[in-house]
Amino acid sequence: MASVQTEGQDKTGCPVDHGKVLAESTLKDPAILAHPNAYYAAMRADSPVHYDAKLGMYLVSRYEDLQKVFADPVTFSVGEGFKYIYGGEYFEEFKAILERNGGGFFPDAIMSDPPYHTRIRKLMESAFTAHRVKELEPRIAKVIVDFIDGLTDKGRCDAVEDFAVPITIHVICEQLGLDHFDSKKVSRWSQAVTAQISAMQDRDQMVENAKHICDLQNYLIDRMRERERDPREDMISDIVHARSPDGDGSALTFPEAVSLIRAIMIAGNDTTATALSNLIFILATQPEIAQQLKDNADDDRFLNRFVEEMLRIEPPVRGLSRMATRDVELGGTLIPKGSMMLNLYASGNEDPNVFPCPRDFDVTRLNIGRQVAFGGGVHRCVGLALARMEIKITARELIKRWDDIKLDIAVEDIDYLPSVATRTMQHLPITFSRRA
Ligand code: HEM
Repeated sequence: MASVQTEGQDKTGCPVDHGKVLAESTLKDPAILAHPNAYYAAMRADSPVHYDAKLGMYLVSRYEDLQKVFADPVTFSVGEGFKYIYGGEYFEEFKAILERNGGGFFPDAIMSDPPYHTRIRKLMESAFTAHRVKELEPRIAKVIVDFIDGLTDKGRCDAVEDFAVPITIHVICEQLGLDHFDSKKVSRWSQAVTAQISAMQDRDQMVENAKHICDLQNYLIDRMRERERDPREDMISDIVHARSPDGDGSALTFPEAVSLIRAIMIAGNDTTATALSNLIFILATQPEIAQQLKDNADDDRFLNRFVEEMLRIEPPVRGLSRMATRDVELGGTLIPKGSMMLNLYASGNEDPNVFPCPRDFDVTRLNIGRQVAFGGGVHRCVGLALARMEIKITARELIKRWDDIKLDIAVEDIDYLPSVATRTMQHLPITFSRRA
């Protein structure tokens, strides 16, 4: 086992620092966003459902309270929560730009509540069948291996810009069936969409982001029209031709289909790229973990556990929003109807009541599968099999080819994207050598 953080100690003697007084802090503080563990620990200990006044949200920090949110998707509404945070204070202007220049404003159909969500989710799952995932595995492996091989002799790269982001974009475009794409453009589109739930966007950024989202939608609509005429073996065709498994023939409307294809492109992009960057960060800063991976690179069971523990200790998605649709008590706090909440998956994943010594990277944990990096309940990540596969193949193929992976930057100098939704490194310069 290797310790990832060594500040202070909790009552079991494990490393935790309860940090600053909660009342004076906010999750919007860039320093806390970058290094949130002490803040999460303070909340779990002293104010488990904590009202962050500057953010205007109740932060749900304990594992058991997250489970209660997962179990009641009507009281804790994704649809209302998403609508509230989406686009921020400039929403109407944002919507008008998309209607004018982006083929329309297509609300995110999957970001909704039962019973509507149940129908959409079933139709979306037709793009994530075992057949589709299995068929993609060799193609995904080839993309990843080609990328690693292309960098190996360079001996250095930015693990975010040269590695994690382009690999993920290639994989997602492979899934969607997009042959000719500009990966820089796809990356910019992705940032533009995720900025809408960052709670950190100013007006100029909104206008710029809206322009990119228009471009993205126009591109996707053209590809959808092609598949309407001529279906292929890809996810865009799966969605365009989705039929209800109940045999009632109900398909997606065109705006729903656009929103789902856009969601697949974006939800699977930033999150998985962040997971790959986190993988490299751990390998570069924890040589004993790199050694464990090297020793077990052909053990599929070990690799599955490794991926799970990696996602537990460094979850790409920090927190996603909900709205309370009635007055409700959670974790000893009364949340009034209409309040915004943030499910802190990252905090749940290091709750010491569920994961003892939570900052220890330990692939032998008995309850490793309980981690919540993919959320839970009816909104649990629809792309998790693909994401796990991509991370596993990358870990296995990378460790077989690279040795001595080291940071080429001081840990304190790593910049994180300002977002309450994800914890994403902007750059990660590393050095490495070809494995003998
Ligand atoms: C490591 C990578 C990934 C992480 C950490 C991740 C995380 C999550 C989380 C936490 C949720 C729950 C949302 C909530 O509670 O409101 C979610 C939902 C979702 N994810 Fe992922 N995801 C990843 C990869 C992917 C991929 C590869 C795809 C698609 C190809 C994808 C598509 C989606 C979609 C569409 C939803 C919404 C599901 C629903 O509300 O029913 N994700 N993801």
